[in-house]
Amino acid sequence: MKNVLLVDDDLELSKSVIDLFDPNKYSFHHLNDGQATTGYVSQNRDDLDLVMVDVNLPSCSGLDILRNIKEIKENLPVIVISGFISTENAMEAMREGAYEYITKPFEVKQFIETVNKACGYAQDIGRSNTITGSAEDELASDEIIGQSPEIVEIAKLIGQVAKTDAAILIFGESGTGKELVARAIHRNSRRRENIQLSVNCAALSDTLLESELFGHEKGAFTGAYFKRIGKFEQCHRGTIFLDEIGDMSMLTQGKVLRVLQEKQFERLGGNETIKVDSRVIAATNKSLVQSMKDGSFRVDLFYRLKVVTIYIPPLRERKEDIPLLLDNFIHRYNRLLEKNISSVSKKAKALLQKHIWPGNVRELENNVHTAMVMAKSDVLQPEDFPVFSEDSNKVEIDLEGLQDNYTEMFARLIDPIFPKLIANGEGRVYHVMQSSMEKALISSCLKHFNSNQVKASEMLGISRNTLRDRISKYGIY
Ligand SMILES: Nc1ncnc2c1ncn2[C@@H]1O[C@H](COP(=O)(O)OP(=O)(O)OP(=O)(O)O)[C@@H](O)[C@H]1O
Ligand SMILES: [Mg+2]
Repeated sequence: MKNVLLVDDDLELSKSVIDLFDPNKYSFHHLNDGQATTGYVSQNRDDLDLVMVDVNLPSCSGLDILRNIKEIKENLPVIVISGFISTENAMEAMREGAYEYITKPFEVKQFIETVNKACGYAQDIGRSNTITGSAEDELASDEIIGQSPEIVEIAKLIGQVAKTDAAILIFGESGTGKELVARAIHRNSRRRENIQLSVNCAALSDTLLESELFGHEKGAFTGAYFKRIGKFEQCHRGTIFLDEIGDMSMLTQGKVLRVLQEKQFERLGGNETIKVDSRVIAATNKSLVQSMKDGSFRVDLFYRLKVVTIYIPPLRERKEDIPLLLDNFIHRYNRLLEKNISSVSKKAKALLQKHIWPGNVRELENNVHTAMVMAKSDVLQPEDFPVFSEDSNKVEIDLEGLQDNYTEMFARLIDPIFPKLIANGEGRVYHVMQSSMEKALISSCLKHFNSNQVKASEMLGISRNTLRDRISKYGIY
């Protein structure tokens, strides 16, 4: 049961908000007076799981209440609700540590999801076992689906290692399910009652990443207006998932290594040494072996992280998982889209089985999703899937008169497929393009030289080792 404090002077709205939630999961306390809030939070600081507060209260501002609550209990999530969209308010709320800033009228589904998340029913990284929602719902999105020997082995390995505290390194191409596996490990561990959070090491600058991981003291750097608790600390007794660890700077790697070895660190700009017990799961789609050779990844960190390694093979190497994944995604999106798709036509199924899926399971899932939106009947046809749609295959490109202006050539090649890239790329377009380009280049070169690696590497101007690494990384035959 989660205890939620709702502070809003609009009684009608408050009632309808409370009615949105399952009374078996949530217990609400309602206050219409902002003044009384601080006292209530102080008295109930250990029992409260979430506070929702309206910005415009008669006696005071919801943002002041937010500040007061953060003084009393910094890690208590607070959702700030505003009657009108104000970027200033939104910025202020988030800066002061609000969990979320929502404007009325809000999208009910999204609102419920946010509240669930804030209450730990579904942490950043996904759902934990403690969720009391229907079991079927939970399984639907967190189950590792597959029947290939590779997936079965992975599932077994997860079962074996989950209960230990060993650091785990997961590697595999983009979209193969690394994060899904990380969630499964946490869900199956004795830490499952505690939090699991993920940090994308590629998405942030050095300082921001370190602040995200270790937290910072007020004034640690420009813009650090308030003390911040980092994710290592938040994940005490839980699990931290370091995604794209291959993109972490050497300096930050050193700090992470220290946490792994000594289980302690200091917040940015702080002197206090903080002890933590958080399990580390890391993932990468880069070859860390190569990065170690390049000198961009610490060897000692690599060995600390890879106590257990889990390799998830690309979907094209375990095609027997495709039918099961299809059934599952259809089932999932039928509910989500309120549709009634029964199956995939024979022809479409054969094509889906044959496709090489460079974006792996994510790409397959996105394709099924789009197909189900587009479908005109209850059986999915090839043309419903973006990968087989007419315009994605019939691309005419005029490369006349470009001589060796490669940039322009590539621009013309990319333009027609750009919408598809965006649709499937999920904010990873750069990465997808870069690796697809590299793979295509190496494949063409090998074909040209009849698979002679010495000649191919000479022509490409890369070492044979690098070439071999790319051949195995991309599974080029
Ligand atoms: N075996 C699987 N069963 C069900 N869903 C899967 C499976 N593998 C991947 N997915 C789904 O595919 C999508 C991508 O998975 P995930 O985010 O775990 O991949 P990833 O390896 O972390 O990718 P990236 O390297 O791009 O971060 C998710 O929606 C996930 O639920
Ligand atoms: Mg991932």
